[in-house]
Amino acid sequence: MKLLLLSLLLAESLLCTAFLVATKPSSRIINCDDPEAHEAALEALHYINAHHHHGYKHALNRVENVNILSETANGEIMLMELDLLETKCPWVSPTPVESCPVRPIIEQAVEGDCKVKLQKQNGSFTVLGVRCKSEPDSAENIHKVCTTCPLLALLNNTQVTHAVDQALLHFNRDNSTVFYRLHEIGRAQIQGAPENRVSVEFIIAASNCSIEEANSALDSCVVLTGDGAGQGQISHKATYATA
Ligand SMILES: *[C@@H]1O[C@H](CO)[C@@H](O)[C@H](O)[C@H]1NC(C)=O
Ligand SMILES: *[C@@H]1O[C@H](CO)[C@@H](O)[C@H](O)[C@H]1NC(C)=O
Ligand SMILES: *[C@@H]1O[C@H](CO)[C@@H](O)[C@H](O)[C@H]1NC(C)=O
Ligand SMILES: *[C@@H]1O[C@H](CO)[C@@H](O)[C@H](O)[C@H]1NC(C)=O
Repeated sequence: MKLLLLSLLLAESLLCTAFLVATKPSSRIINCDDPEAHEAALEALHYINAHHHHGYKHALNRVENVNILSETANGEIMLMELDLLETKCPWVSPTPVESCPVRPIIEQAVEGDCKVKLQKQNGSFTVLGVRCKSEPDSAENIHKVCTTCPLLALLNNTQVTHAVDQALLHFNRDNSTVFYRLHEIGRAQIQGAPENRVSVEFIIAASNCSIEEANSALDSCVVLTGDGAGQGQISHKATYATA
């Protein structure tokens, strides 16, 4: 079933043009590379990023399909299929996605495939619904360009959680004012012999404690929430030897 869906998507992306939906003839046709399709895709992208509360922001790779259904009392309904790339900006980052660098292949980027339903009314688009599935790039693709590059590790792997604990310990030791807690592990790669190292990316969040308070009563330190809490969230990267 999954294979079937994949090959269907593939077939569609090869014939990347708008087509009429048999039951609801459209009044007009637009193509995947039309400025209008691009505008709608960006609206959808911002919606997807705003509702994606883990990992990293996605950037638009391309529009794979677009259909306009017949006009309704509430304007036109548009169906699109988007191909998305993973960026290096964590979802909490204030950096606009347009300025976020895209992940290189060797980092095994997580790609997204989204089906989006939009409404176009008075010249502006509103997202009505989104269905996305995401998947890391295949090992074959990575090993084609880099035979020794490590693949993504599970975020609950003990080598990964240990590296994150160590990195957070160092971060807190070197930053004497606010005590930070782990918010989320974003991604990790474990490199075997001879390098023997683990690379982690994670997000930490400011707590309501100073380092001294944390040393005396760690359990009562809670992550700041509400207005301004976002500024207390920092993305951090570290690499540790495993051997
Ligand atoms: C769309 O434009 C028309 C005419 O300018 C206006 O009457 C209508 O309220 C607008 N609809 C929306 C949803 O903004
Ligand atoms: C780690 O995560 C994977 C996938 O999310 C899950 O299948 C596995 O049971 C988890 N292992 C542990 C020890 O929690
Ligand atoms: C201390 O915290 C700041 C941000 O609050 C960060 O930029 C800096 O890298 C931290 N220093 C260390 C050694 O982790
Ligand atoms: C942090 O917040 C918790 C929960 O509100 C509270 O119990 C604790 O005393 C606070 N710690 C400090 C140092 O303000």
